[in-house]
Amino acid sequence: MLLKDRIALVTGSANGMGRAIARMYAENGCDLIINDLSQDAAQVVADEIKSLGRRAIAIKADITNAAEIRSMVDTAVKEFGKIDILVNCAGGVSGTEGRGNSDNITEEEWDKVVDLNLKGPFMVTMAVLESMKKNNYGKIIFISSMGAVSPCVSVLHYHTAKAGILGLTKNLAFELAPRNIYVNAIVPGPVETTFWDALVPPGKDRDDLFAAIAKKEVPLEKIGKAVDIAGPALFLGSGLSDYVTGQIIHVAGGQPLLAHGATFNIEEYLNEKMKK
Ligand SMILES: NC(=O)c1ccc[n+]([C@@H]2O[C@H](COP(=O)([O-])OP(=O)(O)OC[C@H]3O[C@@H](n4cnc5c(N)ncnc54)[C@H](O)[C@@H]3O)[C@@H](O)[C@H]2O)c1
Repeated sequence: MLLKDRIALVTGSANGMGRAIARMYAENGCDLIINDLSQDAAQVVADEIKSLGRRAIAIKADITNAAEIRSMVDTAVKEFGKIDILVNCAGGVSGTEGRGNSDNITEEEWDKVVDLNLKGPFMVTMAVLESMKKNNYGKIIFISSMGAVSPCVSVLHYHTAKAGILGLTKNLAFELAPRNIYVNAIVPGPVETTFWDALVPPGKDRDDLFAAIAKKEVPLEKIGKAVDIAGPALFLGSGLSDYVTGQIIHVAGGQPLLAHGATFNIEEYLNEKMKK
């Protein structure tokens, strides 16, 4: 029970990593605020958490909308009295149809993706910090991406935003350390979640793509599962990390060990496949 009596807000927790983190937190005694874009989808996870014997509420809020963030955080604090842990998990690139290089990216797409992946987590964090500062305690976890440091496909806006998350982590960690608020980031490698659906839907093509990525780009030769991110997130959310702040933890099957950087280009691979 590493998180006994703790309250956590996990954004984007109706699916993928957020859902796995929420579950593992609940299994460790934590009560949860489940946030996502769909009330119904968030409620499904909140019900799962309740079936584990913990308290949970589902709150529909778009993390790019300041008013919705305000209302979510107010509701959460009213319900639970505090927020101890914030996991900024919501993010992704859907709706840009794979566009993201210097030839095709538009200002509108840039703004949309940077809003979701950098400004949104920043705004949620600012709102939650009010409660954490009052309690002189907090654990904040950001989710970046290996693409921010070693891209294997050009997704300029997304990777830039995810790199910004690392700066946000370091600066906030430095600023908030005297207030007993810890700020760290997880940098995931490829992890099988609904995140990939827009690029390649589940099925044989996706299995082939994952097999190719695992073989060429991941020293552990496997694609991660959402639960692989939940373990490190539990460490960073719990007292086990009480001397750890401002750290960037790569949870990527050893990808940063590849001295040559990423050589496998997902875009080229998919284009080749489509020609066949
Ligand atoms: N899956 C990967 O391979 C991978 C790799 C590196 C980084 N990431 C990052 O990890 C995080 C979690 O991704 P995942 O793989 O679990 O993806 P996912 O698509 O399975 O889950 C993301 C969730 O965020 C929600 N969401 C999207 N926009 C939102 C918004 N504006 N407000 C609230 N919720 C919103 C989605 O509805 C979804 O439920 C994301 O930030 C993603 O960018 C994923």
